[in-house]
Amino acid sequence: MTSAPSSTPRYGGRPEPLGAEFAGQTVAVIGAGSGIGAATAALLADRGARVACVDLNSPAVARTAAALPNALALTADVTAPDTVDAAFDAAVQAGGQLHAVVNCAGVQGELGVPSHEVDLGRFEAAVRTNLLGALVVTRAAVTRMLPHGYGRIAHVASIAGKEGNPNMVAYSASKAGVIGMVKAQGKEYARTGITVNALAPAVIRTPFLDSQPDEVVRYMTAKIPMGRTGTLPEAASMLAFMVSSACAFTTGFCFDLSGGRATY
Ligand SMILES: NC(=O)c1ccc[n+]([C@@H]2O[C@H](COP(=O)([O-])OP(=O)(O)OC[C@H]3O[C@@H](n4cnc5c(N)ncnc54)[C@H](O)[C@@H]3O)[C@@H](O)[C@H]2O)c1
Repeated sequence: MTSAPSSTPRYGGRPEPLGAEFAGQTVAVIGAGSGIGAATAALLADRGARVACVDLNSPAVARTAAALPNALALTADVTAPDTVDAAFDAAVQAGGQLHAVVNCAGVQGELGVPSHEVDLGRFEAAVRTNLLGALVVTRAAVTRMLPHGYGRIAHVASIAGKEGNPNMVAYSASKAGVIGMVKAQGKEYARTGITVNALAPAVIRTPFLDSQPDEVVRYMTAKIPMGRTGTLPEAASMLAFMVSSACAFTTGFCFDLSGGRATY
């Protein structure tokens, strides 16, 4: 039973040409109803993947999937393991194998509040989605990838998890947890053909950003040496590389997407 997309000659062959490197692969994108997840689902579909679009928001994920060739719309909540299992089972049923998972599900949690005033219930809710949800996703993905000896898992963390954003403690702490989680999991599965990595974006321009006050956007942009926010195609392109067969010798790593802000 060989399930990797291509075999590797002794000294490596040519990389897959960009364009159809996901042909024959099934990729689940969680958080596909909006923003980075929707953009990544579209790029993966353009590159030949059968995309299982997964989100808590059923109408939104239905809209994403309806615009793509060969896509499924599935509703799941990353804090409810049974729903993630059911979504991945549906993806496997459609495609025979789950080759890759991109986890973009995330919430900001309470904003603008210093730690001594944080509502503990809201803190816990954000950590449940961002961190426990990421663990739920890895578990469900790995279980289905191990028998095939191949898999790619990418979680979207944040620069907030590396640097800590003041007055965003739930977000910063939960995203730091995601970075620590993939470092552990990369080592756990290093000999299985499964890679687990994270992405740490700085600010990416989404409709959410457009709803923020100008001074907030200016403050966040001022920290970025390139002097601009990132774009959805830039985020999607990085995630597509991270879950491609070409990204084979990197695991337990946190990729940067910060316009030069993070140099580590
Ligand atoms: N946009 C940015 O500037 C930025 C920067 C750094 C990190 N991130 C991270 O990137 C990811 C995507 O961000 P975005 O800007 O596209 O956000 P978004 O709000 O546009 O999309 C997030 C999606 O996740 C879904 N979701 C939320 N909770 C869920 C749950 N429990 N189960 C399943 N789906 C759930 C939402 O319904 C939504 O469709 C998030 O993890 C976010 O923290 C975003």
